[in-house]
Amino acid sequence: MTPARILIVEDDRVVARDLAQQLAALGHSVAGSIARGEEAVARAIASRAELVLMDIRLEGSMDGIAAAQALRDRCQIPVVFLTAYADAPTVRRATDTEPFGYLLKPFEELQLATAIEMALHKHAAERKLRASERRYATTLSSIGDGVIATDAGAAVSFMNPVAEALTGWSQAEALGRPIAEVFRLENQLTGEPVADPAAAALRSGVTEGLPAHTVLRARDGREVPIDDSSAPVPGEAGSLAGAVVVFTDMTRRRAAEEALRRAQAELAHASRLAVLGELAVSIAHEVNQPLMAAITNAEACLRWLAAPERNVARAEEAARRVVRNGHRAAEVIDSIRAMARNAAPERERLALAPLVEDVLLLMRAELKRAGIALRSALPADLAVEGVRVQLQQVVMNLVLNAREALEDGGGTITLAARAAEGRLLLSIADDGPGVAPAVADRIFDPLFTTKPGGMGLGLSICRSILEAHGGSIRLAAGEAGSRFEIDLPAAGAQHAAPR
Ligand SMILES: Nc1ncnc2c1ncn2[C@@H]1O[C@H](COP(=O)(O)OP(=O)(O)OP(=O)(O)O)[C@@H](O)[C@H]1O
Ligand SMILES: [Mg+2]
Repeated sequence: MTPARILIVEDDRVVARDLAQQLAALGHSVAGSIARGEEAVARAIASRAELVLMDIRLEGSMDGIAAAQALRDRCQIPVVFLTAYADAPTVRRATDTEPFGYLLKPFEELQLATAIEMALHKHAAERKLRASERRYATTLSSIGDGVIATDAGAAVSFMNPVAEALTGWSQAEALGRPIAEVFRLENQLTGEPVADPAAAALRSGVTEGLPAHTVLRARDGREVPIDDSSAPVPGEAGSLAGAVVVFTDMTRRRAAEEALRRAQAELAHASRLAVLGELAVSIAHEVNQPLMAAITNAEACLRWLAAPERNVARAEEAARRVVRNGHRAAEVIDSIRAMARNAAPERERLALAPLVEDVLLLMRAELKRAGIALRSALPADLAVEGVRVQLQQVVMNLVLNAREALEDGGGTITLAARAAEGRLLLSIADDGPGVAPAVADRIFDPLFTTKPGGMGLGLSICRSILEAHGGSIRLAAGEAGSRFEIDLPAAGAQHAAPR
């Protein structure tokens, strides 16, 4: 038994005295004994009573039921009614005050003891429940995610302030409405409505996530990118009591991702310009060669025309070679221009062999000068879907690394490619000293370099470009020299653009 401070409200003094004695015998203490309902609230508070035993018929104008009502409104002290009247209207009125017990006079001491014990117990349990509800409500109000709860019929039963702000609906307006009306989802690309996730969770009984590209359409038409999950709320006996949708505003995250993507693209562009600068001398040589050849052929052409036995056929031949040489020089300049441009990345279907050839064209002279042999045997039917200059930059960075690994001591760089199960595998290898095992897992990190003048950006740029293409790059393990393997999703070979 829990001893408690109990206030008696009873207008019959004899009964009140008896009650006081019984309470004392049961081990409780009497917080006071009053006869008027009007005094009940003030006395209960002043005496710090933990329970009130309340007669229904009292002195004065306020009866026990009205007094219990006032107690319920002003302070949360549990009330047990004691009465000789059990007629239906009285019981109904008493029930409205949510009493913690109802004892019919006359009663036994044991009945009194049980009624008090149960009232105290029930009151303690309710207090705990209220505290826990307050705790959950405070938690849900203060978290940064939007939370919407529904009943078993997918009608809104709760919204936290973040959910109110993001949807543009107040909880008061949304209560009882179908969640699909308040939490309107669309596919960002097609504008098609996306099925309401709470209903899906209620149907499947498991936690559901949203498909990609889902946005929330707020009440004022605003579009909010979100990420969400919806979980069913288990009810009693295996039924579902409702669902809870938790969602996060992704606006800032998306903006940060976009800024990062732009920064990476700018970095890639800057590094491309740096590489082109490094190659300037050999690129100049590459342009100079066809120009020199054009001059030589033009002179030959003039000679054939000026000769006494003027040979038009030979002159024509020479003039055609001038044109070919001119085109060749223009091609080199075109590819330099393309590499130097920072155009918006446009994806297209690209045949692999010419894509790689264009890069090698810029580097061939440089490799030859360093006495390095270049072996490249790429099947003509391989194609990828991607951004031309980005993929070319990958090849350029890898060939440049290979060249740097070989220094000026000769050696061979080998490029090979093959298709495998819808993927395209391209490898770029050199027979230089290879990557030291101690640093092998760091070479793709930005700013990691072992070279005195290196920036350590080449491989990290390769990796981010390839990942953006749905591919990957790795260093082949356990080989002499180095071999970098690139894996990309293949595009159908038939429609590949020629260049
Ligand atoms: N073919 C290779 N053979 C041996 N080591 C290599 C090879 N390719 C890369 N590495 C190692 O990986 C490191 C990182 O390469 P990465 O291309 O990212 O940067 P870097 O070449 O040092 O500088 P940057 O390319 O920015 O001018 C290199 O410093 C080198 O130690
Ligand atoms: Mg490099």
